[in-house]
Amino acid sequence: MCVHVCVLSRCVRRVLCTRRHSLWILLILLLVCIAFQTFVARQASPSPSRSPSVHQGDTCRPQSHIVFLKTHKTASSTILNILYRYGESRNRTFALPLNKHSQLFYPFFFTSHFVEGINSRSVQEFHIMCNHMRFRKSEVEKVMPGDSFYFSILRNPVAMMESIFIYYKSIPAFQKTPSLNDFLNDCWTHYNSSVPNNHYAHNILAFDFGFNNDVTADSEDLEERVSRAIGTIERDFHLILISEYFDESMILLRRALCWSLEDIVSFKLNSRSEQTRRQLSPETAEMIKRWNALDWRIYLHFNSTFWHKVDTLIGREQMKKDVTELRELQTKLANTCLKDGGAVDPSKIKDTGLKPFQYGAAIIQGYNLNTDIDEDTKTRCQRLVTPELQYTDRLYTQQFPELSAKQRQATRMNRQRSDRPQAMSPGWPQNRRIIRRKYMILKSQSGLSTHNAHNKTSIP
Ligand SMILES: *[C@@H]1O[C@H](CO)[C@@H](O)[C@H](O)[C@H]1NC(C)=O
Ligand SMILES: *[C@@H]1O[C@H](CO)[C@@H](O)[C@H](O)[C@H]1NC(C)=O
Ligand SMILES: *[C@@H]1O[C@H](CO)[C@@H](O)[C@H](O)[C@H]1NC(C)=O
Ligand SMILES: *[C@@H]1O[C@H](CO)[C@@H](O)[C@H](O)[C@H]1NC(C)=O
Repeated sequence: MCVHVCVLSRCVRRVLCTRRHSLWILLILLLVCIAFQTFVARQASPSPSRSPSVHQGDTCRPQSHIVFLKTHKTASSTILNILYRYGESRNRTFALPLNKHSQLFYPFFFTSHFVEGINSRSVQEFHIMCNHMRFRKSEVEKVMPGDSFYFSILRNPVAMMESIFIYYKSIPAFQKTPSLNDFLNDCWTHYNSSVPNNHYAHNILAFDFGFNNDVTADSEDLEERVSRAIGTIERDFHLILISEYFDESMILLRRALCWSLEDIVSFKLNSRSEQTRRQLSPETAEMIKRWNALDWRIYLHFNSTFWHKVDTLIGREQMKKDVTELRELQTKLANTCLKDGGAVDPSKIKDTGLKPFQYGAAIIQGYNLNTDIDEDTKTRCQRLVTPELQYTDRLYTQQFPELSAKQRQATRMNRQRSDRPQAMSPGWPQNRRIIRRKYMILKSQSGLSTHNAHNKTSIP
């Protein structure tokens, strides 16, 4: 553009023939040029607080640069499956954890080096990032394109705490407390924030978003920290979904990403059987809100912005219609795909590839597939019910076939060398070295609090 302008200016100069005139014209053209370029640059990189605009009037362009902050016990595994299916069926690349790890080294603060293919530059462009991480925007931005769509999901901290207490029963904070009430009656005796893995017990939503989680209703700086957290989330994320309104959330997500109904339909994954659910008394609920005051306030805020979005973008009536349509499609798919019409306990799952990972005191259910379906349908159905760990593993193998083969070989050689069964996943010693080095660097840069210092990254 500028070159053309400069060529043009040379012609103009020849016509005008006076040096002073031509200098003025050159100067003006230069200014116009700069202004134009600034304008173009602004258009190309939308400011982070604005949604990457996929909506232009009635038409929209499907968004496929996506960052999903996967939070804990919030139905986020179901969303992960949606993103995996969308990406896999369209050959999108995923920012997967290094060395076939199942998470982006949660609970460490995310750094770009946790992503496979980033250092070797074997991946040209990443489309989707969605595995567990402790969020840090500045590092995510080093991996993901500038026009990426950022979203996450929150759940009511009261229901969440009940779920977390069962699932993470083995963390130090919960180990010695028979019931959730016992823990809540005397939190500070049981909870020591310096002890590894205890962050699951306290404001875990805030922790996952990268904030300091050690604050309760009595903390003097609660208000200040609530508004700082909310402000930062609003700046960094385009959409915050609510687990209690999962189907409505999917409708909002579909609209934001310009996807089809087929793209966002799902079966519940990583879901607990009813046997291990406990009813909470109103007193217990109040105690949870005080203990997790930061999460509670964040949740209330984003629950209201969620409904504000519903009202302004779609309207409640239309939302009801869309949700009905989504549920009908889901029922249709369940009839086609699922043998028992719904989820079953893990002991009843015949195909081990479809058996979800079991952890803590919860019973995580899964699905059996119908056998009399054609190959295409079978592939679609299989993707819908593949649990997180198996699916992550498969995508890694597809995206990095050579690395994956090398890792398999290393595992085989290790097995031959020792008679003991392998306790660690392949590549773990190497991960540990990398993580330890990264951690030391991070610590020296930013003085991280002690509870990021622990090295267990294998808890789901
Ligand atoms: C994805 O890649 C495979 C293998 O390279 C190719 O056969 C298929 O057509 C691609 N699909 C899409 C949607 O691009
Ligand atoms: C909390 O844990 C740390 C590290 O294990 C320990 O040094 C400290 O004494 C503990 N604090 C309390 C109050 O028990
Ligand atoms: C979330 O918002 C909805 C709609 O306004 C409201 O009915 C519900 O009570 C809210 N949830 C909480 C926990 O406040
Ligand atoms: C974790 O750290 C402790 C002390 O810092 C160390 O003794 C232990 O070997 C580490 N464990 C793993 C799995 O890295």
